[in-house]
Amino acid sequence: MDFIPTKKISPNGDIKIQNPNASKKVYIETYGCQMNVSDSEIVISILSEHDFTTTDNIKEADLIFVNTCSIRENAETRIRGRLAVFRLEKKRKPDLIIGVIGCMAERLKEKLLEQEKLVDLVIGPDAYRKLPELIAEAEAGQTAVNVLLSREETYADISPVRYASNGVSAFVSIMRGCDNMCTYCVVPFTRGRERSRDPKSILAEIKDLSLNGFKEVTLLGQNVDKYSWEDEDGTSLNFAGLLNKSALIDENLRVRFSTSYPLDMNDEVLHTMAKHKNICKHIHLPVQSGSTKILDLMKRGYSQEWYLGRVKAIRSIIPECSISSDIIVGFCDESEEDHQETLKVMRQSEYDFAYMFKYSERPNTFAERKLENNVPEDVKTRRLNEIIALQQELSQEAKSKDVGNVYEVLIESVSKKSDKELMGRTSQNKSVVFPSGGHKKGDFVKVKILRNTTATLIGALV
Ligand code: 5AD
Ligand code: SF4
Repeated sequence: MDFIPTKKISPNGDIKIQNPNASKKVYIETYGCQMNVSDSEIVISILSEHDFTTTDNIKEADLIFVNTCSIRENAETRIRGRLAVFRLEKKRKPDLIIGVIGCMAERLKEKLLEQEKLVDLVIGPDAYRKLPELIAEAEAGQTAVNVLLSREETYADISPVRYASNGVSAFVSIMRGCDNMCTYCVVPFTRGRERSRDPKSILAEIKDLSLNGFKEVTLLGQNVDKYSWEDEDGTSLNFAGLLNKSALIDENLRVRFSTSYPLDMNDEVLHTMAKHKNICKHIHLPVQSGSTKILDLMKRGYSQEWYLGRVKAIRSIIPECSISSDIIVGFCDESEEDHQETLKVMRQSEYDFAYMFKYSERPNTFAERKLENNVPEDVKTRRLNEIIALQQELSQEAKSKDVGNVYEVLIESVSKKSDKELMGRTSQNKSVVFPSGGHKKGDFVKVKILRNTTATLIGALV
């Protein structure tokens, strides 16, 4: 599994009321990956059938949910800080119910109730169908815990409520769980075994989004390349097949996906991307480390050469494709030479973007049990700073190559800096800011890139 760093994703002040007749209000905060954002939409969908609507004001809430992330220790620390704030609310309003859902709930189970006084509910990512009953128990004054993981649950039939979406792009979950067992990672423990969702429900959801005016979908899974579905009649579908069918639904609907696993990302997927104009030309291909020795210790299953071979395949089959990565520094036994190998792979891969982390030892993982977390903190910090500095150079180089080109941009919002400017994204997932020219959110426009900052391309309509 591989994703985006921990950040608070919602609410964004753009919350839509789903159930105007509901008598109770839920406030939900989401941390972690896009999968958690997608799960929160499922949670809201279930609750809106049971007398709840959402609010973005804590003071109004009858129920507060925190959808949590366990990926690194600092993610959990941050969430515990938020729980302290919610506890104060509960002192003010004793009927308030506080629920911890998602990965931290799954990892800590009942322990969370002891550690975090005044939490009423602890619910793991495969137990959301049970929410109404569990909430009823809490309303009756009992604490309730359900952290059962499932081999089948994909919430295929539940249509997510896009309560905090910008109305332009939406996440569509295509699989859950992860079977990779990378030695540093807690996800196999918090999200359980890998399972794919029925393609009929995926394709119906995409069609529905297109009919409702959405312009972009992102197919989500911890390792999308392992998507696999076998129908009763014996026909099977892999990720390339699903991508192909998704792209054919509406040629004006952009299709993205995340995350690709270097070992499993195959040329069939790349050819499918090249074939369809509406499949976005961006691949998030986390390397984690450039050193084959460290990759072995991480049990990633590929070498530096293999990884660079995959990058080469992307460059030759889809020359205009952007590539991003996740990188961990300071994993167990990482020497200075290993670190140099990471810098080398970054340069050779010419990443457009990367999420970079210091290794954080997670309880019960293979690395915690069998390997020694032996890179000193100050060395981790220095190495992290070095890869961040290199990535800044690479991002700058990649963006300066875009100057002078014309891109199709999907408008997502008004620019943060000026209401006379709009912000959108290229197929390569790069943000572009440009003067508005009367266009609006959801429009596709052609923009010529005039200059760039490290984070953004700046352009003008053509
Ligand atoms: N320590 C640091 N980073 C981690 N990641 C996953 N587990 C850990 C850990 N224990 C990073 C990986 C992954 C991203 C989502 O988080 O780079 O791809
Ligand atoms: Fe997402 Fe859970 Fe992983 Fe965090 S630990 S990135 S929330 S799957």
